[in-house]
Amino acid sequence: MNQYSSIDTLKPLSIIDLSAMKQRGEKISCLTAYDAAFSAVIDKAGVDMMLVGDSLGMVIQGRDTTLPVTIRDMVYHTRCVSNARRRAFVIADLPFMTYATPIIAAKNAAKLMQAGGAQMVKLEGPRIDCVRFLVDQGIPVCGHLGLLPQSINQLGSYKVQGKEQAAADKIFADAQQLQQAGAGLLVLECVPATLAKNISAQLTIPVIGIGAGVDCDGQVLVLYDMLNIGIGKRPRFSRNFMSDATNIEGAIIAYHQAVKQSRFPAAEHSF
Ligand code: KIV
Repeated sequence: MNQYSSIDTLKPLSIIDLSAMKQRGEKISCLTAYDAAFSAVIDKAGVDMMLVGDSLGMVIQGRDTTLPVTIRDMVYHTRCVSNARRRAFVIADLPFMTYATPIIAAKNAAKLMQAGGAQMVKLEGPRIDCVRFLVDQGIPVCGHLGLLPQSINQLGSYKVQGKEQAAADKIFADAQQLQQAGAGLLVLECVPATLAKNISAQLTIPVIGIGAGVDCDGQVLVLYDMLNIGIGKRPRFSRNFMSDATNIEGAIIAYHQAVKQSRFPAAEHSF
């Protein structure tokens, strides 16, 4: 048994287990993962979820944005992560333009699940049509609101979203609609902590924050940022967990424990 989880460490987690964690007020830890070696270390550390994020375009492929990432890239990295996972719940991103319509989304989500071994797919924005269609086909979906990296050419920069009341209201309403459409999880990226707190309290599905304050139901970070091995500048909402650790496994365990005990994120990592 893991000290911070009441679930047997060898039993693969399901979306039902993650919902139960929210119900009983247990925080959910998540890290991005892109290969089998890190997948095994993250899983062994007891982290609850691994997100095969299209952030791999930036941290693995050295691109400026996530836009060039293909479904083929995602299937390859999702398979690598799934091969080494024993307990953690695996989510894979649908990359840019792979969910332009519900039918296209279903075809690509099927690849991530059948060839990649993902248990859930994530898509950005209030794509209610796609979420409803995927859920109707039996495909678990994670929504993603707030800062949407795939929309960087519309946004202009990676900045905090939902600061003005109208924008906050829109994110709140979109979150409710995603839940109504059947989304099983929601990622909130770079939004004010008070907004994330309200959404997490309102929704029954788990809300996983990144730059969204400590009151979300769980936290996710880009693995390479928290290990301080990213190519670019570490975002303000992340933390270098290697600074107090003697090795990578220690840093990941420290992150997992900090999330479980609501010690991360602190005020300085929030907006
Ligand atoms: O691609 C990714 O890593 C993500 C996280 C930043 C949430 O979507």
